[in-house]
Amino acid sequence: MDRSAPIYLDYQATTPLDPEARAAMLPFLEERFGNPHSEHVFGWEAAEPVDNARRAVAELIGASPGEIILTGGATEANNLSLIGAARRTERRHFLVSAIEHKSVLAPAAALAEQGFEVETIPVMSDGVIDLECLARLIRPDTALVSVMAANNEIGTLQPLAEVSGLCADRGVLFHTDAAQLAGKQPIDVAALGIDLLSLSAHKIYGPKGIGALYIASNARSQIAPIFYGGGQQDGMRAGTLAPMLCAGLAAAAEKALTQQAVDEAHAKALKTRLLNRLREGLLDIQVNGSEGHSLSGCLNICIPGIDAHGLLMMLQAELAASVGSACNAGLIEPSYVLAAIGLSADEARASLRLGFGRFTSFDEIDQAAALICEKAVRLSHTYAAE
Ligand SMILES: Cc1ncc(COP(=O)(O)O)c(C=O)c1O
Repeated sequence: MDRSAPIYLDYQATTPLDPEARAAMLPFLEERFGNPHSEHVFGWEAAEPVDNARRAVAELIGASPGEIILTGGATEANNLSLIGAARRTERRHFLVSAIEHKSVLAPAAALAEQGFEVETIPVMSDGVIDLECLARLIRPDTALVSVMAANNEIGTLQPLAEVSGLCADRGVLFHTDAAQLAGKQPIDVAALGIDLLSLSAHKIYGPKGIGALYIASNARSQIAPIFYGGGQQDGMRAGTLAPMLCAGLAAAAEKALTQQAVDEAHAKALKTRLLNRLREGLLDIQVNGSEGHSLSGCLNICIPGIDAHGLLMMLQAELAASVGSACNAGLIEPSYVLAAIGLSADEARASLRLGFGRFTSFDEIDQAAALICEKAVRLSHTYAAE
């Protein structure tokens, strides 16, 4: 893929569109314009990518196509899980991890405003949830536990099988936001005992504006819709689906499945190279979260004493990366994820997230590391002279 400067190292915010996903989408901008819910040839043509998307997503996570609800993205899938469960249950208690994406934390806060009791599951310094604490927090009236598969800021992977075991024992729904993990590493919802799983096309080289919620067939009756209208998707999510986006999601999910091992090995090699180069150029860097037990395409580092935002501003013509998650970008407050793993406000301010993947080259990694080291050294000299 032709990538002009700046070097793009923000793959957790979004991934570039894969050329195969783009090619699959184009016919639906042109001659195949039908409504996928219409009962005639134009509709049937447009319904094909909808079926393909459900099938491809199901294959990616070990589900069956009938268990996949297509949504506007992971944000909607997360909202449907929490709000949908709250509407169907007599239970009043919800548990979410401290480092969930805002699209889980915000609906949880909305439920708290409506009188539900929402508690937070703490994480340890590597970002992994405290399972013993979770076991203590689950109550007879707990409706749902939401623990993300991989964190979007520090990449930490969570022990999904253990969480599901704790939930299944007590008849509690287990939801996982897998927006960052799906397509990167194998996930088998049945083997892991997951009831609800959210994912997003634009994190797996597909288009923005579409995602999916897996609802295990035996959990279906426990989720109420949050959109009402024409009864599409068996009434679980009303609204006309976008065949163009479905075609992009289908192609992206198919490719993710066939290319997962290659992508993963590439990301791992890039991470090792980046970390080595940074450690050669800067004596003092710390990896935030877990160095080994995290997404291969995500590296969150603290360069003590540096203002990471200032560093990235100095580099904006050459390098695009992020401090904290993109959704926090407008806010000056330190990342709540970094605070949850025990970083001080100063350490959080000195931290940046570098994300890379399928289209990142080793040359880009070398250049990015050299740029970061050079500017960080210069910044620290400036501070010392002040
Ligand atoms: C972990 C996680 N969950 C949910 C989302 C929201 O996904 P979408 O943009 O598809 O709504 C993101 C995107 O940043 C994410 O990283």
